[in-house]
Amino acid sequence: MWKQSKQYAAAFRLLAVIGGCLLVSPLQAQTPELPRYGADRHLGASSCASAQCHGAVRNYEDSHIWRNEYRVWSREDPHSKAYSVLKTKASRKMAAYLGLKNAHEAKVCLDCHTDYVPKERRGRKFRISDGVGCEACHGGAERWIKSHTEKNATHAANIEKGLFPSEAPPSRALLCQSCHYGDKNRFATHAIMAAGHPRLSFELDTFTLTQVHYDIDKDYRERKSFPGNVPTWAAGIARNALQNLEVIDNLLFAKPGIFPEIALFDCHACHHAMDDRRMSRRVTTAGLPPGAIRLNDSALVMLYVISLHVSPAQSDACLSDIHALHRATQSGRKAVLAASAKLATRISAIQKDISRFDYSPANIAALRKTLFKLGGKGEFRDYSGAEQATMAVDLLTFALKQEDKYQRQLDRLYKVLEKESDYSPPEFARAMRDFGVAAGG
Ligand code: HEC
Ligand code: HEC
Ligand code: HEC
Ligand code: HEC
Repeated sequence: MWKQSKQYAAAFRLLAVIGGCLLVSPLQAQTPELPRYGADRHLGASSCASAQCHGAVRNYEDSHIWRNEYRVWSREDPHSKAYSVLKTKASRKMAAYLGLKNAHEAKVCLDCHTDYVPKERRGRKFRISDGVGCEACHGGAERWIKSHTEKNATHAANIEKGLFPSEAPPSRALLCQSCHYGDKNRFATHAIMAAGHPRLSFELDTFTLTQVHYDIDKDYRERKSFPGNVPTWAAGIARNALQNLEVIDNLLFAKPGIFPEIALFDCHACHHAMDDRRMSRRVTTAGLPPGAIRLNDSALVMLYVISLHVSPAQSDACLSDIHALHRATQSGRKAVLAASAKLATRISAIQKDISRFDYSPANIAALRKTLFKLGGKGEFRDYSGAEQATMAVDLLTFALKQEDKYQRQLDRLYKVLEKESDYSPPEFARAMRDFGVAAGG
């Protein structure tokens, strides 16, 4: 499940890093309609599969696009298997625990494992068994299938007709995270987790790179734009933080009974051995009494770290807004909604600064240094926080072209995370501290 940095490195080289060159527009925070919720009809993956279109047998170097996207998707991309995994033994077991007849007909599973648009928006060739097909990400093709291949077609005109702007990090983050984290309509609840579902984790840049069927080359940049890997990461974190709040607002207190939705909290706040003492001295959770069950704040903490550099005028307030949200979980729904609204406004302001920041090597190095400093003090103590910190350090190190120089240190971070049940927060802190010393304090 975990992305090794080597795999990341290979994908990363493919993309050829661009340093500080930043186009502002693609990073601006828009929230277009997701393919799932729009009005356009989805025609089905096989509509894209002819040899003249996206079903060629090889990658055409001289074409704008690979032209074999369908083959890459159907053979190598896990999204094409997302439906069939609902028929495995693991899914059957999960369904039985949850009291479902089976997983491959249950809305709660199909919601994230397929392009589950309502029946009236399915074209003749649409098959639910395609899993997460082209249009789940690129938008229902009803209005652009014909025109997008015409000579004078532009990207803007395609978007006008319902192509989803998946090249822009904030909208891509919204798209991917609607399944990889959840949104207010679909969520992998604690009941689903306890029935055996893998814990979800996501980072936009890393996950994008392991799922590639295109090159970010010269002609791509002319047609679309690419702000760079580090800005993509930062925009993804901000979007995840907002999505986190949206789900908290809608689902934390949605269930009857005395327990809120448990999957919104840090899993290991409850799931760890009693002699494994993890009392928190973290800056970002200050104000919580001992034994409090902490919200999973991995995106919020990372956003705070980013704000220290990108948005220094907002960072103190961001931290106190995060404290307020944590404290509000001790009081109840009204307090949580108020704290969440305040934090959401703050995040929107930080999003603007993220889109304007100068992602120069010196600034990237400074950001990474802050990660080492806070990490060394135990700030990313929760497993999901340590996971985010590791992916961040990894991608910042690659952006600085230091992946070979620090391979040993990167491997050590991944090693600490290798087995979730053996994860040791002090060991992670030591690994961050030592990496920081090796990278110049
Ligand atoms: C909020 C969206 C969401 C919901 C709801 C959801 N899943 Fe998943 N599921 C995912 C994602 C995303 C992954 C991939 C996780 C990863 O590898 O990072 C996944 C992974 C899995 C896997 C592991 C696949 C593999 O290749 O090993 C199984 C099995 C699975 N889900 C079954 C189910 C079943 C059964 C249900 C319904 C009870 C369900 N899922 C509901 C999003 C969801
Ligand atoms: C899980 C989401 C996802 C799925 C499924 C998916 N794509 Fe993509 N695709 C992307 C992303 C992200 C990009 C890169 C951003 C962009 O250019 O929009 C992309 C880019 C592309 C490009 C643009 C290349 C360029 O140079 O402009 C084409 C063509 C494409 N995909 C075709 C397909 C086809 C055909 C399928 C189905 C067989 C498919 N995609 C399935 C997410 C997806
Ligand atoms: C409609 C829901 C949906 C959307 C949208 C979606 N995914 Fe997924 N993704 C899944 C599911 C479900 C799986 C697990 C499939 C399996 O294991 O067979 C998955 C698997 C993956 C994996 C493999 C994870 C692993 O552990 O090997 C990556 C990487 C990934 N997705 C990246 C992305 C990116 C990047 C985007 C956005 C461009 C995206 N996904 C959009 C549902 C989705
Ligand atoms: C508020 C405390 C709490 C949090 C937070 C929590 N869990 Fe649980 N979890 C429990 C309890 C209680 C059980 C039931 C244990 C039992 O049946 O013995 C459980 C059961 C489980 C089980 C089934 C274990 C078994 O024995 O079969 C899994 C898997 C699981 N949780 C995963 C997760 C994941 C993943 C998260 C985070 C997304 C999470 N839990 C967050 C309290 C929690």
